[in-house]
Amino acid sequence: MVQTILGIETSCDETAAAVVEDGVRVRSNVVHSQVNLHERWRGVVPEIASRSHTMRILPIVQQALEDAGVAARDLDAIAVTHRPGMVGCLLVGMAAAKALALLFDKPLLGVDHVQAHVHTAFLTAPDMLLPSLSLVASGGHTAMWLVRAPLDTERLGTTRDDAAGEALDKGAALLGLPYPGGPSIETTGLGGNRRAIDLPRSMLAPDSLDFSFSGLKTALLYHLRGPGAVRPQPVLAPRELRDLAASYQEAVVDVLIQKLVRAVKRHPVRSLSIGGGVARNERLRERLQQEPALRSLQLILPPLSFCSDNGAMIALIGHFQLRQGLTAGLELEPVATPQAGGKATSRSTR
Ligand code: KG4
Ligand code: ZN
Repeated sequence: MVQTILGIETSCDETAAAVVEDGVRVRSNVVHSQVNLHERWRGVVPEIASRSHTMRILPIVQQALEDAGVAARDLDAIAVTHRPGMVGCLLVGMAAAKALALLFDKPLLGVDHVQAHVHTAFLTAPDMLLPSLSLVASGGHTAMWLVRAPLDTERLGTTRDDAAGEALDKGAALLGLPYPGGPSIETTGLGGNRRAIDLPRSMLAPDSLDFSFSGLKTALLYHLRGPGAVRPQPVLAPRELRDLAASYQEAVVDVLIQKLVRAVKRHPVRSLSIGGGVARNERLRERLQQEPALRSLQLILPPLSFCSDNGAMIALIGHFQLRQGLTAGLELEPVATPQAGGKATSRSTR
């Protein structure tokens, strides 16, 4: 029997809802990005974000149901992000999900947002070869995960300081480029010299699968304003700006690729996938396809719309959880932090 799940996502600055059948057929995927509300602050302001979610959540859910041609009473379950994220934001999606679950007497599923990014590849490649290596790189997280089977995952390494997206956002700020930094660095750097300046690639200890990106932005700052950042901010010629953006992006991508290669050497995986906002990056996608050490693996590059925050990946995890009977009660609580250990259950939320 077909299993139809509504997925709701409000953990950060996207209000999103989607209807997914059997974890693969995405019947609708509606996303409202708040990026223009937060642009001037160069980051997500929790109060502004939760207020905007409150205004948008009902029309977005309605749109997702309408686009899918599904009535709420015909859903099999309602999945919602309940961790990690800004609590005031999580609460908005959860209130909507709980109201629907109560009104239509549907099972409620509490989803871990990071696990949703980790599993994104299943949306487009449900039969992907396992075990798999999944890189999740976003504004808040950068980690590599071993995926043995749906909901059976293990974190192999994570960032010790900034996330990859955060490094791009901060680098863009130093270069005077708009927020969010990932896309603006990518477009500004197009055609630029990727080796124009020598930026550090922090690899940590030779066997480490962790990441560290904080030194990179400091190196860029010192390049622009001298050691100790004592000089005033220079006015950059367009060509110089293009080369700096290309070099900075290349440094981030280099580290991600080298760490993936390291992980593959240590763990006998059969496929590789990426998720999170940084996974939208074309240079990263190109390098993944070119890297000889990764060539033997099935490479899954999900469509861009599934990489940034969306409801489809939440419905996907909901599908796996429902199959395993991992439903939540109406007492499901929002949790700011990610789940430790990597098991994507919704039972141990209290
Ligand atoms: O997953 P996401 O939409 O939100 C969370 O942080 O959870 O990721 C947003 C991050 C931002 O840091 C943004 O700069 C980065 O993803 N990003 C990109 C690109 N598009 C978004 N980074 C590199 N290249 C892109 N095209
Ligand atoms: Zn995310």
